Parts: sequence; structure tokens; C-alpha cells
Amino acid sequence: MNQEYKHEPKKSEIILTRLIGSTVLQKYYDDFIRELELDRYDVVLDYCAGAGQISSRAARKVTEGKLVYADVSSSWQAFASKKLSKCKVARKCLFHSFDRKLLIGQYDKIIMHFVIHDIDAKYRMAVINHMVMNLKKDGMIYIREPVDDVHGLKLYELINMIEATKVLTYDYVVRESFLIGKYADLRCRLRKEA
Ligand SMILES: C[S@@+](CC[C@H](N)C(=O)[O-])C[C@H]1O[C@@H](n2cnc3c(N)ncnc32)[C@H](O)[C@@H]1O
Repeated sequence: MNQEYKHEPKKSEIILTRLIGSTVLQKYYDDFIRELELDRYDVVLDYCAGAGQISSRAARKVTEGKLVYADVSSSWQAFASKKLSKCKVARKCLFHSFDRKLLIGQYDKIIMHFVIHDIDAKYRMAVINHMVMNLKKDGMIYIREPVDDVHGLKLYELINMIEATKVLTYDYVVRESFLIGKYADLRCRLRKEA
């Protein structure tokens, strides 16, 4: 699959994200990471890591493991790299298309936080299948997506994609937050026989 795209944030977007991430959204990100129950030996992929808000927190948890923060945007990668520069377990990964370059490891946990709705609908399924291929046995994919009427995806679209992989079991919960609106959390695990 060769969807080449360039999506670089404007400087104002980076500044705003930095400001919000270090103030009003701090607790939100802390709570998100706590719920993932990362093990210190885990090898984790933060797929489309953006500013690295999640990667930097995940890296502090996987002290004996590895954290790969991947993105299509070199501006976001540069920004996240500054944040993670002192972190021994962190590795960056800039990718340009949904090709095999991202098959750089086998992961215990893959995090996709507010990512799928940003990807062109016709590539979403392929991206999810690609993530499945990168999972270790018993590996998990954590997905959080906005499922507002005005923003994001429909919950059934997300569930249909997970079911269409045929190899993931899942549970989900839908919540609403004053800060980010209505969102769905899906915990997906590779079926034992897969
Ligand atoms: C909303 S941000 C989420 C960042 C991070 N996961 C977080 O929650 O803090 C979406 C990320 O997906 C990346 N991305 C990947 N594919 C994209 C696409 N087709 N269009 C826009 N952004 C895309 C962007 O570079 C960006 O880092």
C-alpha cells in the first residue's frame, strides 16, 4: 500500500498543542496511560504519536522495554524527539506511507490515540490490518477515537473494522469528557488461535 501523504502541522498548531498538553490536558493524558496497564518489559508502538504526549508517559512505564513513536509528520517527530531525547527506551520512526517500513518490530502493545479518524477512510482498514501484523502473540491494540456526531467516527464503523480483521477480540466503553467530547475506548487482543 502506497498512500503517500504529507501532513505537516502549522507552527500555531504546534504551539497550541504544546500549551494545552502541558496544562489542561496533563491529567487527561496521565489518566489515559494509567488505564493501559503497561508492563515495564513491554515493547510499545505509539502509532501517529504527534507531539509525543502519550509516548513520553508510556516511556516512563516501560523502563526495561522499548517505546517506538511513529508519525508521518517530520515536524511532529522533531517535536516529540525533543521531549523524548533523554529517554533511553524511546526510538523514533518517521514513515512516509503505509508500507512495510513500519514493520520494524513485534509489539506487546500498540496505541492508536485519536488517529484513525484522521486517516483517509479508504486506508483505515489496511492500517488496522497492518497493526495486527505487528502484534506479538497476546498483543493488544488500544484505540481511542472521538465518536461525536460532529467529529470523528461512528462507533459502529470502528467496531466493524475491528471485527473485519477476524483475528481480534475486543471490548469497548464510550465516555464523554468536557474537554474532548464523546469518545470510545477499544481494547483489542489477538485471538488465541490467530
Ligand atoms: C490528532 S493527532 C494525534 C496525535 C497523538 N496520537 C495524540 O493523541 O496526542 C493525529 C496524528 O496522526 C498523524 N496522521 C497520520 N495520518 C494522517 C493523515 N492521513 N492525516 C492527518 N494526520 C495524520 C498526524 O501526523 C498526527 O500526528
